[in-house]
Amino acid sequence: MNDKQLVALQAAKYVKNDMVVGLGTGSTANYFIDELARLSREDGLKVTTVASSTISAQRAQSLNLPIVALEHIRQIDLYVDGADEITPDKTLLKGRGSDLVKEKLLAKAATEFIAVADSSKLVSYIGQNFVIPIEVIPFAWQLARKNLEDIGAQGDLRPNAAKDGFWITSHGSYVLDMKFDRSLDAATLNTLINNTPGVVEHGIFYKLADTVLIADNGIVSEYQATEH
Ligand code: A5P
Repeated sequence: MNDKQLVALQAAKYVKNDMVVGLGTGSTANYFIDELARLSREDGLKVTTVASSTISAQRAQSLNLPIVALEHIRQIDLYVDGADEITPDKTLLKGRGSDLVKEKLLAKAATEFIAVADSSKLVSYIGQNFVIPIEVIPFAWQLARKNLEDIGAQGDLRPNAAKDGFWITSHGSYVLDMKFDRSLDAATLNTLINNTPGVVEHGIFYKLADTVLIADNGIVSEYQATEH
């Protein structure tokens, strides 16, 4: 069993009967969805799920997990999702995919948000390994980028896979992949990007993860945050 699977199985132990559970997106989240389906099938676990993306919804549906649409919920009990980066204060970077908005809505709506990852995701600061994805309304992209450049960011629209157009999210937005000055911490970046007109959502999940589970060479442990 690999570390992503191991940590996903550990997160599944937090699921109790009758919970409404948010399903994340990505390879680690997929293992969690599979385990939920197995627990439902083999152990009679009763859960309702809400998916953070079309791809996760499809997976849950194909595994016969009961699923409700995001617009039908006001809160959920548990959300389990992966991350691209995790800092010492449990800030996450997410959004490599197309469903950043739903991911953040579920992270915020959850009584408990458990982030699951292997140790390769641990970083010292947000933006260490990846650019920061910023979802923008298409007609606003140029003005939004100018405002972000004014606070020291550099970057461009994310191209589509064929590189003959731009990446479009599930909700019809463009994505600016931006790199910021190292001196800006996650709290500052979160505020600055939130205050940029035309931005729909961005990949910094600041103070949203309640629990971070990390698998490292076959051992899962709860990541102990150190506040700055
Ligand atoms: C999807 O938009 C992302 O936020 C993923 O949840 C995140 O990249 C983790 O993916 P993996 O588990 O595949 O590494």
